[in-house]
Amino acid sequence: MDSQNLNIVILAAGAGTRMHSQTPKVLHELSGKPILQHVIETALKSNPARLIIVYGHGGELVKSTINNICPHVDIIWVKQEEQLGTGHALKEALPNITANGKTLILYGDAPLISPHTLDVMAKQHNNNIIILTAILQDPYGYGRIIRDTHQHISMIVEEKDATSIQKEIREVNSGVYIFPNQMLPEWLNSISNNNAQNEYYLTDVIKIAHTEGVEIQSVTAHHEYEIFGINNKTQLESLERICNHINVGVLLEKGVTIKDKSRVEIRGDVTMGQDCVIDVNCVFEGRVIIGNNVIINAGCILKNVTIKDNVNIKPYSVIEGAVIEDNCQIGPFARIRPETVLQADAHIGNFVEVKKSMVGANSKINHLTYIGDSQIGAHVNVGAGSVTCNYDGTNKHQTIIEDDAFIGSGTMMVAPVTIGTGAIIGAGSVITKNAPADELTLTRARQTTIIGWKKKQR
Ligand code: UD1
Ligand code: CA
Repeated sequence: MDSQNLNIVILAAGAGTRMHSQTPKVLHELSGKPILQHVIETALKSNPARLIIVYGHGGELVKSTINNICPHVDIIWVKQEEQLGTGHALKEALPNITANGKTLILYGDAPLISPHTLDVMAKQHNNNIIILTAILQDPYGYGRIIRDTHQHISMIVEEKDATSIQKEIREVNSGVYIFPNQMLPEWLNSISNNNAQNEYYLTDVIKIAHTEGVEIQSVTAHHEYEIFGINNKTQLESLERICNHINVGVLLEKGVTIKDKSRVEIRGDVTMGQDCVIDVNCVFEGRVIIGNNVIINAGCILKNVTIKDNVNIKPYSVIEGAVIEDNCQIGPFARIRPETVLQADAHIGNFVEVKKSMVGANSKINHLTYIGDSQIGAHVNVGAGSVTCNYDGTNKHQTIIEDDAFIGSGTMMVAPVTIGTGAIIGAGSVITKNAPADELTLTRARQTTIIGWKKKQR
């Protein structure tokens, strides 16, 4: 979009009472992130000179949450103390709008507007007014577009003010417009709240502009859903379904095999290479980058992970904040936690939890084990039921297991501790001191048999 002197105002002061929630409406999550964040991200693609968000009473949480999520985005926050209508909301933003240029209006609760549509609108703008409209099967609740005998838009009538004939009109106002800045102050100062809702309607600007002979053009949204707003949990759910449908569609288009598109959740940013397969009931969140030939079996949850090539993730594994290199095998029922790196050909088996650890190439940790705050070398084998005891109740400590070490089953490694290269630890040991390289170390009470013990009891 031509960003010269483009101001974008996001109206987000609405109370959102119909969500029946303590959380402000625009902070509810859609496809893994706050509703408002979707709008901001789309707005930024237009490269605005200014991004203004009008927020309302109790909206401090909106401001702080968004500033936390997008710390590098320059946002001008304007507080609308009382929600007196969309026209009033934009008027509150006026002092921050540049004298020249144009202003695009977006809604904080209508997150699926596409950058493409905004681009089309901007290209059509030429000191006139551009309105994004849609033809809806069911126009109920929306402002209707009224056209004169020359088919020029002459005004917008709100549902509550419309006559029964006007209510038949299926062309509706999305609430997304581009206005020429120079005229905005005069227009916004001349609207009144003399209507069914006693609100200052931004839509009244259209009538005024038309009377003044300003050209008003419409752009039709490519997809109906682009103009859908979220006012309640039913609408939130249906937009969630739309987002998922779009995201799954993108992956299918790119050649990912998806067993059942209605049983996979793609939230956030997911990219996948060639010949990947996703089985049912998998959830992807955040930023997920996957290479080629990766199989993700049923019931896996992947959040903010990078996975290289030829990886097999077996059913019901949960992986978050990790890097998984080529040819790794994970699961079933594995949990890989943040700051973990699995180097090539590592195997993590069932009921194994790995946290903040590096697992070297070709190492195997196959059964019932906890590895935390550890550095594990290459070709290490950790036997079933072993634990890195990383926490002393106050602090976390490191366990280092060097290349080729063999940890017998049921070993407790009390950190900080180092197991040397090629060391062998006997099963059932509690290792509290460093174990030297290439030697067998074990701690084990001697096995005793008390002969005749049973007889004496009788
Ligand atoms: C508005 C339009 C209507 C359009 C519909 C599309 C007006 C008068 N009507 O109606 O023509 O079809 O959107 O969804 O503009 N807001 C504020 N401050 C306020 C009032 C609203 O910031 O004082 C914000 C809300 O948070 C919301 C947006 O403006 O994001 C729209 O407000 P809402 O009350 O939902 O407008 P509608 O009645 O749906
Ligand atoms: Ca609305």
